[in-house]
Amino acid sequence: PVSVGSKPDHSNSESPEPQHASRPAARWGERHPLHDPWILAHFQARPTDVLITTAPKAGTTWMQQILHQLLTGGDTDFEDIDQVVPWLERQRPPRAWREVLADFEQRPDPRLFKTHCTWEQTPGRETARIVLTVRDPRDCCVSFYHHLMDMSDSALEQDQLERPPSLDAHVDQWLAFGAWFRNVASWWPQRQRSNLLMLRYSDLKADLPGAMRRIAGFLGWSLTAEALERAAHYSAFAWMKAHSERFAGRNADGTPMFRTGGFIRKGQTGDHKTHLTAEQEAKILRRCRQELPPDCLAYLGLP
Ligand code: A3P
Repeated sequence: PVSVGSKPDHSNSESPEPQHASRPAARWGERHPLHDPWILAHFQARPTDVLITTAPKAGTTWMQQILHQLLTGGDTDFEDIDQVVPWLERQRPPRAWREVLADFEQRPDPRLFKTHCTWEQTPGRETARIVLTVRDPRDCCVSFYHHLMDMSDSALEQDQLERPPSLDAHVDQWLAFGAWFRNVASWWPQRQRSNLLMLRYSDLKADLPGAMRRIAGFLGWSLTAEALERAAHYSAFAWMKAHSERFAGRNADGTPMFRTGGFIRKGQTGDHKTHLTAEQEAKILRRCRQELPPDCLAYLGLP
């Protein structure tokens, strides 16, 4: 089975695990296996930080690109999106946490980070500006399946994941892991905060320039019409697909973690309809009704 949630990676630690009052107790699957507790405990948040927060496969990388493009007005001079918008709680390939924090410390404001942390786990959650993207869980589940299928063997090992034997097995493992539910259930009650902007993946699909104007307005960033047009062009699926090696993460040897084109894959809403059986879909929807309030289901367009 997918070993998600089973063994947090402490291999790059340099001191005993800090006792951090705000860190929730680790239950099975409570903590994403890619969380580095040392980074989370020692990270010095700044009020100028901008955090991209998502459940895995909800459009994280897309939002990394959108925010980098909005901040720079259309910069394409980067090799790997994680270098300009790093993953807060985890580095790929893994690095010693002191080195990671020194890197974060020397970055100019506003710093951009991506995170899969829950609200409770997020450092700086009261002060940072947060852009939250949510996506239909059925599409996230299918996207995660392809994520596992398209990853190189070394990348799977690096991220402590395993390729599922079938989609059916994957759906059960994804439900057991439960990261999507924990993430959305934790962020939903925070959605009215003035430091948080919530968007749906489907909103980005429906009107990318409009959504980007909303994000820029929320962050107080003013762009010329030309800069916004450039930023939207470089954030479109076609551009990102054509440059997918910049969005595929890195193995320890510097090679991309995914086969070419694997990570920026299909980019559609409703892709679950071509993959999930009625029974698999029903399992996901049943769990949604157990874990999320009706207004959240309605917002996500779930029956
Ligand atoms: P699919 O697998 O459904 O294609 P994350 O970055 O959170 O892991 O999410 C990955 C998903 O976002 C993938 O979904 C990927 O194709 C999609 N994605 C990435 N860039 C996109 C873009 N510019 N437009 C639409 N979808 C995008």
